Amino acid sequence: MRIVMIGSGYVGLVSGACFADFGHHVTCVDKSEAKITALEAGEVPIFEPGLDAIIQQNREAGRLDFSKNLAPSVGEADVVFIAVGTPSRRGDGHADLTYVYAAAREIAAAVKGFTVVVTKSTVPVGTGDEIERIFREEFPEKDIAVVSNPEFLREGAAITDFKRPDRIVIGTEDARAIEVMREVYRPLYLNEAPLYFCERRTSELIKYAANAFLAMKITFINEIADLSEKIGADVQKVAKGIGMDKRIGDKFLHAGPGYGGSCFPKDTLALVKTAQDFDSPVRLIETTVAINDNRKRAMGRKVIAACDGDVRGKKIAVLGLTFKPNTDDMRDAPSITIVQALLDGGATVHAYDPEGMEAAKDILGPITYGKDPYEIAVDADAIVIVTEWEEFRALDLKRLKTVMKDPVIVDLRNIYPASEVAKHGFGYFAIGRKPERR
Ligand SMILES: NC(=O)c1ccc[n+]([C@@H]2O[C@H](COP(=O)([O-])OP(=O)(O)OC[C@H]3O[C@@H](n4cnc5c(N)ncnc54)[C@H](O)[C@@H]3O)[C@@H](O)[C@H]2O)c1
Repeated sequence: MRIVMIGSGYVGLVSGACFADFGHHVTCVDKSEAKITALEAGEVPIFEPGLDAIIQQNREAGRLDFSKNLAPSVGEADVVFIAVGTPSRRGDGHADLTYVYAAAREIAAAVKGFTVVVTKSTVPVGTGDEIERIFREEFPEKDIAVVSNPEFLREGAAITDFKRPDRIVIGTEDARAIEVMREVYRPLYLNEAPLYFCERRTSELIKYAANAFLAMKITFINEIADLSEKIGADVQKVAKGIGMDKRIGDKFLHAGPGYGGSCFPKDTLALVKTAQDFDSPVRLIETTVAINDNRKRAMGRKVIAACDGDVRGKKIAVLGLTFKPNTDDMRDAPSITIVQALLDGGATVHAYDPEGMEAAKDILGPITYGKDPYEIAVDADAIVIVTEWEEFRALDLKRLKTVMKDPVIVDLRNIYPASEVAKHGFGYFAIGRKPERR
């Protein structure tokens, strides 16, 4: 099969490379000249574990190439995926579909024979109908089917998620498109990944409903964490105790600083807006969004409280900036709000992140970056663990204590046993667990 992937970001590049790995011929297209130039030179512009090897192997095998111009490859394609960004629209929080519709128009102009056009971007209900309208009104002679196929991969584990998904949702009722999509995903079907066919609008809603549910689950345990802290319970044990119930499940029950990233914040907001437009408000999700927004700033206040209520003139060492480990993605990361709250409180912030510092430099205010946790801890009044990178899980606490001015750790990811940290003489403040004061 000949596949074209429009948009070579976190989703497009991973999906394109994995489809090539299944044996399809894939062209990944992107408007960004810098991205395509880098990819053609053998550099991978994002950090995603394992992606560079798959790209290299499939380029060498002649199954994967890159282009700034979609027209030649779209003319030859069986399937064209749209995997461009759908960020929050400035001002009202609806999904901004400018990039999707621009890509659809370009595709429409370039299509030759029967082609399946698939939205892999997360798009609100009705977007597929609108793309179909664009084709029908502007290019009535073209033969296409518009399909919804939302992506559920997680950054940091994207290759495994793409190759071993829990399910593949395909929204179309067009018999020819169903055949083509079966062929596209045949290698995964052999891996026993269920193909779930439904109507296009249903498929579009499944993606938002899934993300909203997961965001709600995280927010639920975050509120239980706050309650645990007040009443002397341990949220990790509560999470384990409820997670063993199969009706609840143990995933997405890790209390933390609030969800962030490129999907949950914008997708929950977009669902809220769509639901309001249809006069069917989703109040649970409205509340989830509000709680999560407040939580990030509250995490800044938590750090300040751990520093005896005042960070003016103090040095705070921040470990981890990306919204989760194993990615360089800084979009809507909780670190952005937390660092700002600390700067607003008069602190000096020094930060270290294994992969996110380049992206952070364009987003965060005036802070200093270090080369490892020990360097930024020198003379610090507190360490704050914001992202749970593996390399922060076994820090040399003895060494840290000797270099810090005041041995305080605020662990917003609960990655340390409190007793272990306290044994080394640290004040230790976690989420939803009793603080250990010096
Ligand atoms: N990042 C994730 O983990 C994830 C997971 C599931 C779904 N999604 C969804 O997938 C979509 C893409 O997300 P992403 O994180 O990959 O975004 P991204 O910003 O990393 O990549 C989008 C790419 O599209 C390119 N682009 C925009 N318009 C174009 C056009 N007309 N022609 C060619 N290229 C164009 C941009 O230059 C950019 O490189 C979004 O709708 C997102 O919600 C993302």
